[in-house]
Amino acid sequence: MEFEVVDATVQFGGVYALDHVTLHHDSDGVLGLIGPNGAGKTTLLNALSGVTRLKSGHIRLGGTDITHRASEQISRLGVARTFQNLQVFGSLTVLDNVLVPRWVRRRMHRSGPAGRAAERRAALGVLDRVGIADHADRLAGTLAYGLQRRVELARALAAEPQLLLLDEPLAGLSRVEGNRAAQLFADLAEDGITVVLVEHDVGSVLAVSHRIVVLDRGGVLAIGTPGEVVADPAVRRAYLGEGD
Ligand SMILES: Nc1ncnc2c1ncn2[C@@H]1O[C@H](COP(=O)(O)OP(=O)(O)O)[C@@H](O)[C@H]1O
Ligand SMILES: [Mg+2]
Repeated sequence: MEFEVVDATVQFGGVYALDHVTLHHDSDGVLGLIGPNGAGKTTLLNALSGVTRLKSGHIRLGGTDITHRASEQISRLGVARTFQNLQVFGSLTVLDNVLVPRWVRRRMHRSGPAGRAAERRAALGVLDRVGIADHADRLAGTLAYGLQRRVELARALAAEPQLLLLDEPLAGLSRVEGNRAAQLFADLAEDGITVVLVEHDVGSVLAVSHRIVVLDRGGVLAIGTPGEVVADPAVRRAYLGEGD
């Protein structure tokens, strides 16, 4: 799903979390969003998903101006996200964690009542997609952290998004789990979902992203292919902490 951020500014007190950010993403695939802590990555996801309002500027999503839309309206347009801090219902089963957003989605789209069996089948399909169908009946809170991360991803996918915003989904995962998750994001992009992958750690993003945006102190430092961004002197200086 195509989106466009035009001259977007978000201010918290004296801090410009986003400072006149302009970027346009018109392709499918994985867009990697990197930058040091406090660069504005989460704020940009919040702005795209309607959690945070812009002070000035515009955001368009697939041709629709969503600058002043509430988050429920934006999710109805096909946007789903995960959060930096794990968000699962620990006392619900893994399956119910995925059924909840499906019910919400049906209500949002004012679809008629779907058969329970059909919803269950769809939810199990999503669990299978992220590799946790075997855990469907377990309480989500009893799963290991890496599996709970997958429950969270399954919840986002349950809404059948066109644009998937992931806020540091690899944090806290082992290298093996992280590689597996990154491969899954690439596969989802292959399926036609536009994935925005926010990561603090550069290395894990470069391998799976088609394009990279580097934020620094609320501004866009660089945009390009992974190769272009890594070679960019400004990025190397400001972000990778290297001289020329
Ligand atoms: N709700 C908030 N209230 C005040 N300051 C905020 C808030 N959210 C973010 N900030 C500030 O905005 C800047 C960008 O934060 P954030 O978008 O979370 O960065 P990142 O996700 O790249 O680490 C930081 O200086 C942060 O302290
Ligand atoms: Mg963040």
